Amino acid sequence: MSDKSIFDKLLAEIDRLVSSGLSRDETLLRVCQLLESSVAYYDWVGFYLVEGEKELVLGPFAGEPTEHVRIAFGIGICGQAAKRKETFLIQDVSCETNYLSCSPKVKAEIVVPLFKDGRVVGELDIDSHQLSPFSDEDRDFLEQICRRLSGLF
Ligand code: SME
Repeated sequence: MSDKSIFDKLLAEIDRLVSSGLSRDETLLRVCQLLESSVAYYDWVGFYLVEGEKELVLGPFAGEPTEHVRIAFGIGICGQAAKRKETFLIQDVSCETNYLSCSPKVKAEIVVPLFKDGRVVGELDIDSHQLSPFSDEDRDFLEQICRRLSGLF
């Protein structure tokens, strides 16, 4: 479903944003808006930021507001990705038992941890209203974005 040339173009735009001198949160917000408006099956795009030892707090996002503003490590897809320090790609959320629903419209989700000096400092979270929308190219693309954003933390 993805088109690598679009991803390359978006990575170049994100590089420009990262070096533009905007604040961290303004940069993160613009990344959310860019991704949500550019990729048809990215329906909600947001960042969770690590607070304290084991808690995620909702940061900048594009899409509908969510009730999940604080998530403990280990809980939901986001909490599991933070605890395991690895990308979680769920092509059908109805098959996932440890899942926090934001909207019945959401069918799939990918969560990519953002590392700084080996520690998880945040996550990029994307919800899709389509079933099985994410490919290995999406995973690579989103992991590259998180590596580029790490310097803002
Ligand atoms: N579905 C997530 C909660 C966050 S929302 O998708 C914005 C989870 O299971 O952790």
